[in-house]
Amino acid sequence: MSRRTFIAGNWKMNTTIDEAVDLAKGVVAAVGSVTDVDVAVCPPYTNLSAVAEIVKDTNVKLGAQDVHWEEKGAYTGKISCAMLKALGVELVIVGHSEQRTYFGETDETVNKKVAAAIAAGLGPIVCVGETLDERNGGNMETVVERQVRGAFAGMAAADVFKCVVAYEPVWAIGTGVNATAQQANDAHIFIRKILADMYDDDLAQTIVIQYGGSMKPANAKELLGQSDVDGGLIGGASLKAADFAGIVTPA
Ligand code: PGA
Repeated sequence: MSRRTFIAGNWKMNTTIDEAVDLAKGVVAAVGSVTDVDVAVCPPYTNLSAVAEIVKDTNVKLGAQDVHWEEKGAYTGKISCAMLKALGVELVIVGHSEQRTYFGETDETVNKKVAAAIAAGLGPIVCVGETLDERNGGNMETVVERQVRGAFAGMAAADVFKCVVAYEPVWAIGTGVNATAQQANDAHIFIRKILADMYDDDLAQTIVIQYGGSMKPANAKELLGQSDVDGGLIGGASLKAADFAGIVTPA
């Protein structure tokens, strides 16, 4: 199976404009000409325009961290797909656990955002993952299955092919405690099983599934070496160009 490795940096609510420019320049200097791995950075909205200029004509793609599903109108504080597209954004993270936990994101809103992003020509990075309580309660599969089915509900296979899935166990995000390579791989295989059931094996085996949750240079090689782990969605370690580069091209 020839899925390409895809490493994306999720800068979250970090970087002022000057910091974002510095970080983007560092990322481009370190990995801007890497061709055997797909690379993206997802800065805050306020820095997309400036970072777009820096990553232009490099192999680093630009992503946003969220999007609203409506096209335009009275939605104070929200950003539309068209607004992102106009800045040269190609990708958008949807359904991150921080959106789910703190800002009322549901499987239904994830579904609307994924559909809107695809209709607009943006590539969604669809995040799923269980909490520690859910894992310890033996409910990992139930939760992840509900999230995957919810995210893609009503969507044609041709559209789901345009998505990337990020498996991000909530207990591993920002905690320094990553899922073991085995735990990550098992979850990814499980996600492919759900997609095979919803669609077919071709889709299940073709779709890129990133792992996210305390991935760093020291554990990247082992995680990325798993059969079904195709990349990483990187938070903390994406805020230093050298660390991010150490994941894109692990030693
Ligand atoms: P982390 O975050 O790498 O800091 O754990 C990952 C994410 O939330 O996407």
